[in-house]
Amino acid sequence: MQVVKTIPEIRALRQQLSGSVGFVPTMGYLHEGHLALVKQARIENSVVIVSIYVNPTQFGPREDFGAYPRELNRDLELLRGEGVDIVFVPSDEEMYPPEFSSWMDVGKVTERLEGASRPGHFRGVATIVAKLFNIVQPSRAYFGQKDAQQAVVIKRMVADLNMGIEIVVVPTVRESDGLAMSSRNIYLSPGERQAATILYKALTLARQLRRGGEKDAGKISRQMTSLIQKEPLAQIDYFSIADAETLEELSLIDRPALASLAVRIGKTRLIDNMPLE
Ligand code: PAJ
Repeated sequence: MQVVKTIPEIRALRQQLSGSVGFVPTMGYLHEGHLALVKQARIENSVVIVSIYVNPTQFGPREDFGAYPRELNRDLELLRGEGVDIVFVPSDEEMYPPEFSSWMDVGKVTERLEGASRPGHFRGVATIVAKLFNIVQPSRAYFGQKDAQQAVVIKRMVADLNMGIEIVVVPTVRESDGLAMSSRNIYLSPGERQAATILYKALTLARQLRRGGEKDAGKISRQMTSLIQKEPLAQIDYFSIADAETLEELSLIDRPALASLAVRIGKTRLIDNMPLE
C-alpha cells in the first residue's frame, strides 16, 4: 500500500495504472461504515484508492472542524487490512493554496435538509469531491447511504458536468442497536449513546407505518416526532419525508421516498435516514 501526500505524486502513480480504479473519499477516523465502501470498491475494481482529508471548507464556523477526530496510523492499518492500493493524504496547503478561489455550487438539491441546517456545507463537499475526482480520475466512486443527500448532490454534479464517473451508493452500516456508525459517535457520553438509538427507532417506526399502508407523510411525521420527544436528551433539528431521487418534500407518499432526520443529542448533532419503498 502506497501512502502519498502530494498531487504530483498521485498523478504520477495514476498514469501508470490500468484497469478500473475505485475511489473512496473519506475524512478518516475510519469505522466499519467506511470499510464497507472500501470492501465493495475492492470487489469491483482492479485498483482501490482511498483519500483521507478533513476538508475545512465543509465545516461551518461554529462546527467541529478543530475537534474532528484524527487517527492516521490506525486508519492506515485498517486500509492495509482491506487490501487498498493507494492512500492519498493531502495537506490543507496542497488542497487549498492561498490563491484558491473556485467553488462548486450544485444548486437546488443542496438547499434543503442538511443544506438548510448547514449553510455552505455542500459547497465545500462538492468542491473537494470535484477536486479529488480530477486528481484521482476514478472509474467508480463510493459513497454511503448514511449521508443520503451528499450522494444525491454528488450524483447531480457528476451528471451535470459530464464527469463520467459511476457513483456507487453503499447501504448504511449500523451498530447492533441500530445506531448508524459515525466518526461523531465518540462525542457521546454513555447516557447520550443510549439516547442516540432514538434516531433508528423513529426511522423504523416510519418504515413500519409505511409498510402498513400509510401514505400520509404528515401522519408519519407526527408519530415520529412524538416518539423522539419522549427522549429527554434528544432535540429534533429537522425531520423529512422526501422524494428519494429529488429530495423534494412529499405530503402523499406515492413514490419511493426517503425518511431522514437530524437530531441533537446533547451537543452532538447526528443524522440518519431510511428508504421508504
Ligand atoms: P466521511 O464522513 O468520512 O464519510 C466518508 C464516506 O463514508 C461517505 O460516503 C459516508 O456516507 C460513508 N459513511 C459514513 N458512515 C457510514 C455508515 N455508517 N455506513 C455506510 N457509509 C458510511 O462524507 C464525508 O466523509 C465527506 O463529506 C467527504 C465525502 C469525504 C468529502 O469531504
